[in-house]
Amino acid sequence: MEFKQQVAIKVTVNGADIRAAVAPEESLLDFLRKQCGVTDVKCGCGMGECGTCTLVLAGKVVKSCLVLAAQADGREVWTLQGLERDPLAARLQDSFARHGAVQCGFCTPGMLIAARGFLQRSPQPTRAEIREALSGNLCRCTGYQKIVDAVWAVAYGDAAEQERA
Ligand code: FES
Ligand code: FES
Repeated sequence: MEFKQQVAIKVTVNGADIRAAVAPEESLLDFLRKQCGVTDVKCGCGMGECGTCTLVLAGKVVKSCLVLAAQADGREVWTLQGLERDPLAARLQDSFARHGAVQCGFCTPGMLIAARGFLQRSPQPTRAEIREALSGNLCRCTGYQKIVDAVWAVAYGDAAEQERA
């Protein structure tokens, strides 16, 4: 009989310490959804192409379908649902809602995490830079314009946006 080896890991997920056994090939995305009940990370493709699984691992924005759960051992993971007290995440969420940048919502948690990471690195971006930064996050609903508007408004405020219009 063949026994499948499991890997023991300890991961801090949205502030909670979690110990678990995972298969060596299990993705961080599957681990979070199946073992941790963290379902704001979505599986749109499982191949690194859509960005719906985007989260923060050890301070870096990553696509969790491309990371093994075992690679998160000893590290901190933050998804959107854990960032409810994060001021930048809150401002982005509010701006997405006000600009109509959310329709079905499937892409939204990953999009917000990507936008937050981008604005932390580049607080005064051009619109082209916003588009480029979010190019790894696909949205089937909004046509992207409203998403770019929402991120722009967080960077510069609604007054600057009205001047531009
Ligand atoms: S599910 Fe990870 S990039 Fe699509
Ligand atoms: S709001 Fe539906 S995929 Fe983006």
